[in-house]
Amino acid sequence: MTNSNETNNKNMNEFILRAENIIKTYQTTKQNKLEVLKGISIGIPVNKISVIVGASGAGKSTLLHILSGLDRPDSGEVYFEDNNIIKMSNDKLAKFRNGNMGFVFQFHHLLPEFTALENVAIPQLINGTSLSKAEKKGVELLDRLGLADRINHKPAELSGGEQQRVAVARAMANDPSIIFADEPSGNLDTENSEMLHHTFVELKEKYGKTLIIVTHNHDLIKLADNVLEIKDGRLVQE
Ligand SMILES: Nc1ncnc2c1ncn2[C@@H]1O[C@H](COP(=O)(O)OP(=O)(O)O)[C@@H](O)[C@H]1O
Ligand SMILES: [Mg+2]
Repeated sequence: MTNSNETNNKNMNEFILRAENIIKTYQTTKQNKLEVLKGISIGIPVNKISVIVGASGAGKSTLLHILSGLDRPDSGEVYFEDNNIIKMSNDKLAKFRNGNMGFVFQFHHLLPEFTALENVAIPQLINGTSLSKAEKKGVELLDRLGLADRINHKPAELSGGEQQRVAVARAMANDPSIIFADEPSGNLDTENSEMLHHTFVELKEKYGKTLIIVTHNHDLIKLADNVLEIKDGRLVQE
């Protein structure tokens, strides 16, 4: 592909993740179907922050889940680098996700009975890392996120902002190249939101991560390199 933007904007043309003609329908009742995504094609530029915006119910979470392999479309393809994740078995996809992708949700989804450190260690253990290495990495990540004195606290003993930063540390545990977040600051006050957004920028700039974030937050939208809007089941690229 050659176009006049290519030289100016080379990195924006280098996609780590691509989706082609994604269609997703939900059967809402026996008679009724809701076509949420009506043929979405998208390229996610590597080492950039892309945000997905749109009205409530527009299909943002549905799209994020399909891009990350948490859900499957009715039809269409999703390529992570050269891997067609739609063609992978559930088992293979689960392993692939655990090694290559990180997730942050609106509500932290940390395991309540485990400490912050254990929550960051567990995905590494699942990925085959030894306990001592997993704990060492966990301490490092939590330290980087300003949580050095919180490593032995359980989620209920942490503030909302701290819980989300533990969730980010957990998402980073297996050193994924891409991090997905679904309204990550939707439940935080301004100060904690700012801290989290700053962390996302750092993940991009210092650690070379690619981020795909569903958000309504205007401060976060301003920080994005790429804004993708979903409207009526289709993409309006800004
Ligand atoms: N499992 C499901 N079954 C039926 N309808 C669903 C399901 N999940 C989502 N929907 C519907 O699909 C639409 C898009 O949902 P969602 O992707 O969660 O939107 P957003 O994240 O943009 O708010 C909504 O109308 C929602 O009610
Ligand atoms: Mg949603």
